[in-house]
Amino acid sequence: MCTSTLRYTREPVGYVDLHSHVLFGLDDGAPDRSTSLAMLDALAALGVTEQCVTPHQKAHQYLPAWDRVEATYAELDGLRRPLHPTLRLGAENMWDDVFYTRAAEDTVPTYRGTPAFLVEIPPSLMPPGMVDRMFQFQRAGKLPVLAHPERYHALWEDDGLAASLRRVCALVVDLPALAGFHGRRESKMARHLVESGLASAVATDAHQVGDVQQAAQGLAWIDKKLGHAATVRLFDHAPRAILAGCLPD
Ligand SMILES: [Fe+2]
Repeated sequence: MCTSTLRYTREPVGYVDLHSHVLFGLDDGAPDRSTSLAMLDALAALGVTEQCVTPHQKAHQYLPAWDRVEATYAELDGLRRPLHPTLRLGAENMWDDVFYTRAAEDTVPTYRGTPAFLVEIPPSLMPPGMVDRMFQFQRAGKLPVLAHPERYHALWEDDGLAASLRRVCALVVDLPALAGFHGRRESKMARHLVESGLASAVATDAHQVGDVQQAAQGLAWIDKKLGHAATVRLFDHAPRAILAGCLPD
C-alpha cells in the first residue's frame, strides 16, 4: 500500500494541501465559481502545487450528491488557470451514520486514486474505540486522515490518546488554528501537536480567500518556531507521503 520514497527526499517539491472547501456551491466553502478561482489564485501564491478539494459529506447538513460533486470538480478543473495548483478530488467525511454505512460497504470517498480518506469527528464526542476502528481501516488497506485534531476535546488533556491515534492515522492540523484564528484552546493544541511531533501534516481547510491568508500566518509560525525544513516536511513531504498511502514518520 505504502509506495512513497519521498521520506528519503530532503528537497522541497511544492506544497500539497490536503483539506479545502474550494469547490463552489456544495457546502459552506466557496459559494460561486469566481470565489473558487480567487481561492486558487491565493493558494498558488502561497506555493501550493497540488490542491485537494474536500467538500463536506455530513448527514443532515452538507451531503451533496456525489455526481454533483464530480460535475463541480470537473467544471472547476476546466476553469482553472495554468499557474493554479492541480486539483485532486476528495471529501471531508463526518463520522456519522452515512460514514458508517459507507465504511461497511467500502464506499467512503477517498482522495482520488489513493487509499487515504479524510475524516472528522464531532469536537466534543470522541467515538468509543476510535483507535481500534482506525487500526481496522489500516488493516483493510486504507489510510485514515483525521482532520483538525486540535478541535477534539478528548485530546486536549490526553497526549497518550493523541499518540495512539498518531500510530494508526494521520493527524492533519489546520494552519489557521496555528495562527490563532480558530479559538484560544484550539490554537494552543494546534501548536502543541506541531511542536511535539504529534502532527503528521498541516492543511489550510480553506473555506474562503481570507482563510488562505490566515493559513499563510500559520506557515510563518512554523517557519519561525521550528524552521523552514519543518514547514517543508509538514506541508510538502508528509502530504505527498499520505497521498501515496504512507503514514508519515
Ligand atoms: Fe473542512
